[in-house]
Amino acid sequence: MSNEEMVVEEIVVEENIQEEEKEEEKEEEKEEEKEEENEEEKKEFTVNDLPGVGPATAEKLSDAGFDTLLSISVASNSQLADAAGISESVARKIIQIARSEMDMGFESGLELLEKRKKVFKVTTGSKAFDEILDGGFEAGCISECYGQYGSSKTQIANALAVNVQLPKDKGGIEGMAVYIDGEGAFRPERIKQLAAGAGLDPHETLKNIKVARAFNSDHQMILVDKVDEMITKDNLPIKLVIVDSLTSHFRAEFIGRGTLSERQQKLNNHMHALMRLASKHNLIVYVTNQVMAKPDTFFGDPTEAIGGNIVGHNSTFRIYLRRGKKGSRVAKLVDAPNLPDAEAMFFVKEEGIRDD
Ligand SMILES: Nc1ncnc2c1ncn2[C@@H]1O[C@H](COP(=O)(O)OP(=O)(O)OP(=O)(O)O)[C@@H](O)[C@H]1O
Ligand SMILES: [Mg+2]
Repeated sequence: MSNEEMVVEEIVVEENIQEEEKEEEKEEEKEEEKEEENEEEKKEFTVNDLPGVGPATAEKLSDAGFDTLLSISVASNSQLADAAGISESVARKIIQIARSEMDMGFESGLELLEKRKKVFKVTTGSKAFDEILDGGFEAGCISECYGQYGSSKTQIANALAVNVQLPKDKGGIEGMAVYIDGEGAFRPERIKQLAAGAGLDPHETLKNIKVARAFNSDHQMILVDKVDEMITKDNLPIKLVIVDSLTSHFRAEFIGRGTLSERQQKLNNHMHALMRLASKHNLIVYVTNQVMAKPDTFFGDPTEAIGGNIVGHNSTFRIYLRRGKKGSRVAKLVDAPNLPDAEAMFFVKEEGIRDD
């Protein structure tokens, strides 16, 4: 079986069991939204209008996730050339025109404020943890938790996959979750516990989490493209994408100094694809990351996140997790655009992430 087939098989399981009525309602809403969007876009220049982009090229571009002028205008020449099977010089021209046709660059602070209003947050289940994040995990960007084994990176992923399904007044957004599982750590039984703890129907909750096991780093990257299709083609209301773990395949596959830059390049592309997904569809991207010992540290924390600057710079929110006293866990916000560094203590309980 090819990677693609594996993906499809994993994702299709359980998909058709949804109640029809609900589905129809959601579809209608989606269509209305789409129409509104289309109306705005109609006057605009689109990917198909780019010189040198015929229907076949447009389709290839779209398959690779380059289906808007924005995504093309921020691509590199080689990325676009690879995606569409065109030469780099043609790619460069296409990118230039996309940039000139787009209203690129500056937006007023007021416009940005309007955009920010659409950004939602999802609760962790712990007040203290939510507080250091100013309300929870944020849509439209990448949040990364890193820490040692057992520091609760996966437990937070599970909790978010459940809580994203809660209504707004309970800290959710009634969305679906995608779980890209690089370590085989996903346990449906655990989701059932958390769903019950959140007051949700465990069966329904499981249906709203689409799980795919990533078998290697390439497969993991393909799965991210797949999510875009699940949203644009299948109209699934996905509001959370989890990659657990972001780095383990990359770490295992690229060993030795010679391959480090190749690994970093690939990881960079992977994170850009995730970022595109987050901003294009206004959803939460939650990634987990391991740490390695820093043998030359005498003071402070002797651990450092995998992936170095590439992962660090591409994560909008970075949270360091460690074990605390009496079975607690400590989350330390180490990097955030508009929030101070802060720490919160929480507990992993059968029913969820809690303050005590
Ligand atoms: N049902 C449960 N009830 C209470 N606590 C639980 C439950 N399941 C797991 N835990 C706690 O979560 C911890 C495991 O955390 P988790 O699997 O999230 O770690 P991780 O950071 O993802 O580690 P790794 O790097 O190995 O993936 C366990 O040590 C346990 O304390
Ligand atoms: Mg884990």
